[in-house]
This record gives sequence, C-alpha cells and structure tokens, in this order.
Amino acid sequence: MHIHPYERLWIRLSVIMLIVFGIAIALSSLTFGIEIPGATRRAVATGLPADATPEQSWIRELGPGRYEVNMIARMWGFDPNEIRIPKGSTVTFYLHSQDVLHGIKIRGTTVSMMVIPGQVGRATYTFDEPGEYIFLCHEYCGLGHHVMSGKIIVEG
Ligand code: CUA
Repeated sequence: MHIHPYERLWIRLSVIMLIVFGIAIALSSLTFGIEIPGATRRAVATGLPADATPEQSWIRELGPGRYEVNMIARMWGFDPNEIRIPKGSTVTFYLHSQDVLHGIKIRGTTVSMMVIPGQVGRATYTFDEPGEYIFLCHEYCGLGHHVMSGKIIVEG
C-alpha cells in the first residue's frame, strides 16, 4: 500500500505525541501525587472521623490552627457555605454529596475535586494568606449549578 510522505509524517507525529502525552501523565502523577478517585476514597475508608456523615455538616477545631470541615454538597449549595478561620490554619475537608455528582474548586488553592455520591472526598490545605477564598461547584449538576458556591474567610 502506498502512503503519501506527508500522510506518513502525520501518522508518525501523532504516535510521537501519544507517547509524549503518556509520559507526561505518568510523570505528573508520580511527581505531583495526582490521583483519580478509587476504592481508597470510599465512605468506608479508614482515617475518616467516625461521625463524618453525608447528613451533618460541621467545622471543628482540632487544635491550634488545625480544623476539620465536614461539608455537604447538594443541589444547589454547600453546607457550610461560609467558613471563618485564622491565617495559617490547616484545614482538612471531607466532602459528601447528598444527591448527584458535584465538584469543588477552592480558588487560589490546590483544592479541586469531584464530589461523588457514596464516596468521601478528602483534601487538606494550609491557608497562609489572609483573604476571601471563593469555592465553586465545577461539575454540571442541574439548573442551579451556577449558583452553587461559598467562601472561606481567612482572617489575618
Ligand atoms: Cu453542584 Cu454543579
């Protein structure tokens, strides 16, 4: 079969790109610890507070500058949707969905994840800079998706 030289060039380029992207994904997941949600993040996973349930939200101070937030995502809001903490606090978020797939992205931080019904999303972040950190739902979840937000106020 005759293959035009340009055609052959493009086929080779696409294969090279696939290999490069594959290496990039492997490297970034090894270097930055990026994980996809799996069995270890299910609601039954150990290491979660015993009372972390999808029904009840709370903000709890574990010690000086250490907080735990049990957060509920539902159509179309977060509970709690306003969190006040002092500067320098390390916060661990546990996220539950009461209905459909949601997401959370806390602007200006590394916290960004899907909130999957039946699983608990967990993320920890240290808020070193005072200010207002808006968080949003970033998975389309219905008519009110665009109003699903809240804020973290870090007092200086
Ligand atoms: Cu919840 Cu979009």
